[in-house]
Amino acid sequence: MQTVSIDLGQRSYPIHIGRGLIDQQGLIAEHVRNRAMIVTNQTIAQHYLDQTLASLGNTPCSSVILPDGESFKNVAELDRIYSALLKENFDRGCTLIALGGGVIGDMTGYAAASYQRGVDFIQIPTTLLAQVDSSVGGKTGVNHALGKNMIGAFHQPVAVIADMSTLDTLDDRQLKAGLAEVIKYGFIVDADFFAWLEDNIDALLARDTQATAYAVKRSCEIKAHVVEQDEHEHGLRALLNLGHTFGHAIEAAMGYGEWLHGEAVGAGIAMALDTSKRLGMIDEPAQTRGLALIQRCGLPVQPPKKMTPELFLKYMARDKKVSAGTLRLILLNDIGHACVSSDFDHSALHATLRHFCA
Ligand code: NAD
Ligand code: GLY
Repeated sequence: MQTVSIDLGQRSYPIHIGRGLIDQQGLIAEHVRNRAMIVTNQTIAQHYLDQTLASLGNTPCSSVILPDGESFKNVAELDRIYSALLKENFDRGCTLIALGGGVIGDMTGYAAASYQRGVDFIQIPTTLLAQVDSSVGGKTGVNHALGKNMIGAFHQPVAVIADMSTLDTLDDRQLKAGLAEVIKYGFIVDADFFAWLEDNIDALLARDTQATAYAVKRSCEIKAHVVEQDEHEHGLRALLNLGHTFGHAIEAAMGYGEWLHGEAVGAGIAMALDTSKRLGMIDEPAQTRGLALIQRCGLPVQPPKKMTPELFLKYMARDKKVSAGTLRLILLNDIGHACVSSDFDHSALHATLRHFCA
């Protein structure tokens, strides 16, 4: 087991990474206060719920099983978690356990942030995407029909336990979607990691254990470092949203679940590369290199055919990075060097939208 620490003062916590961690007696239980409620979904419960319950030993624990899918990440479904907690008289000393991917993690985190004004929660991420990104950093929430992740809160978990053996049951499409968030770190702040990914992308797609362990650990280190400096996204943390302004528009406009989050981010990074090139920020070799890595992950570099410039602009206007009515984009000066920009020439963005929606 390797451990990455995230230093947030009193809200610091460990991110444990390794194989077989769910089965390690006491590892989860040591972070539970009085009693626990596992939140998971139908698919993940079949694989890992009994195992997790067994590993909790004598710790009092219940579970609530949600329907599976991004289309259920909404306020209506959250009520199932609150109801389960209330029916069993869970008090403020309880701990929620998110057992699943980013959907379960974000929903459980938000339930923990809001139940009785805030209780503890543990993240047990079971997708690559959740192990490298969503389980770390405390962004929690749900979607609204009019915008992605629009209802939420910052609420840090008390521990992240990333059991890499859970990735064995993940299908290839989900694995590739998770790679979108891995390569994102190379694009935004770490040219060496980007080069390592170019050399190791085939090993990652072949599920090589050592390569995957390194990719998960390096991603968590980068994310922890960014979140430590800017927990509530006043500046630097926005870089983690490279490709997401375009990607969130695709997810919301297509109907949640139609395109996976990671797929939308892949196309979104391709679009951010294009705008950056049009603005004279990156050169053609860097753009070509970036596009090649997205494609080698098996991710789309074009948005769905249904998307139009108007649809993009409608949803992008509701992005959480919009401040005082001004859209902010994450753009690239080079591989490994991203920046947040609000005063870019909007004709470049419009040219990108026309080009990709032709
Ligand atoms: P997901 O949670 O929907 O999981 C993908 C699918 O894999 C689901 O069908 C799930 O049931 C299944 N699954 C999960 N673990 C499995 C396993 N081990 N074996 C077999 N099947 C398994 O999707 P995701 O990609 O993990 O997460 C996407 C969500 O994360 C989006 O809602 C996105 O907005 C959010 N997100 C949040 C943050 C954050 O910082 N909070 C960051 C990135 C993404
Ligand atoms: N996934 C973006 C963030 O955590 O800020």
